Amino acid sequence: MSVYLKNRWYVAAWNHEITDQPLARTIMDEPVVLFRDRNGIPAALEDSCAHRYMALSEGRVINNHIQCPYHGLEFDRNGYCVLVPGQKNIPPGASVRCYPVVEKWRYIWIWPGDPKLADEDLIPDFHWNKDPNWVAVGDYFYVKGNYRLLIANLLDLSHVAYVHASTLGTDGVANFPVKVTRDDNQIHVERWIFDEPAPAMFRMVGDFKEDDKVDRWQLINYLEPTHFMIDVGCALAGTGAQEGERSQGVTMFSNHTLTPETENTTHYFWHHARNFRLEDDTLTEKLANATSTAFAEDVIIIETQQDRIKRLGSHKVTVDINADAGVLQARRLLDNLIESE
Ligand code: FES
Ligand SMILES: [Fe+2]
Repeated sequence: MSVYLKNRWYVAAWNHEITDQPLARTIMDEPVVLFRDRNGIPAALEDSCAHRYMALSEGRVINNHIQCPYHGLEFDRNGYCVLVPGQKNIPPGASVRCYPVVEKWRYIWIWPGDPKLADEDLIPDFHWNKDPNWVAVGDYFYVKGNYRLLIANLLDLSHVAYVHASTLGTDGVANFPVKVTRDDNQIHVERWIFDEPAPAMFRMVGDFKEDDKVDRWQLINYLEPTHFMIDVGCALAGTGAQEGERSQGVTMFSNHTLTPETENTTHYFWHHARNFRLEDDTLTEKLANATSTAFAEDVIIIETQQDRIKRLGSHKVTVDINADAGVLQARRLLDNLIESE
């Protein structure tokens, strides 16, 4: 079975990463070069010249084309060779593979599979990242770990009590069970935590006092293959948050999307959005730091797991626990999709 589900949209880059300076990025083992032409339109091509393999990403964008740094062949954003120095005719078949790309929600999306199936309407909804009613902070992490380790991390947030004790966690989280539901290509993992202290990050953004008790929610929406929209927040205990009355609390969306680089490495993009105190730049900066600190804690876990997997391999027997319910469903869903692809 393949490691990847290819006929899907994945985030290749933040939109600000793509300029007229070519960017090299490996996606599902394939070398890709990303750049913008002079109209600002993003392009993604196979990062290997049609002449003698040289990496186009080492070249430059010139005359609206990307120029190979070795013998100067130029390619347009559809991958067709448009110029061969010193000759008039272009050799037949002088082209490199072109990937469908779309700029949306401040991301550059790429379709690694069959281009004929690339439908823009299938791009996941990450509007929080570009919405006047929300302010989002976000970043990119390069992770030395398989993307499925990150899927498991994001589908089981009982780990916040241990991994993120100083930011997102409080002791009691793991004591509250999750409810897992599935519809089509989505899995929802919901946890409500009642009458507990507010974690540090929520005390920072909300008006909670040290000894206030809150009702807290972690509502994970996993959209296969690798996208997460997580509704998180808390409100003063007993004020009806679970019934939809959130005015006594704060809501944030913690959104994540994973793009496999190789079997053992992942491009991890995330943004964290809030819909209150939109003009408060100091808060924005504090949240950027706190979320970045928290997600970097996950990266350490993932990379350590990957190291142990590499060293111990399949000899080691591992167990599942109740909190894995969503993780196991996601694994089955992805396995089935990859198998049928
Ligand atoms: S290898 Fe690219 S022009 Fe020769
Ligand atoms: Fe985490």
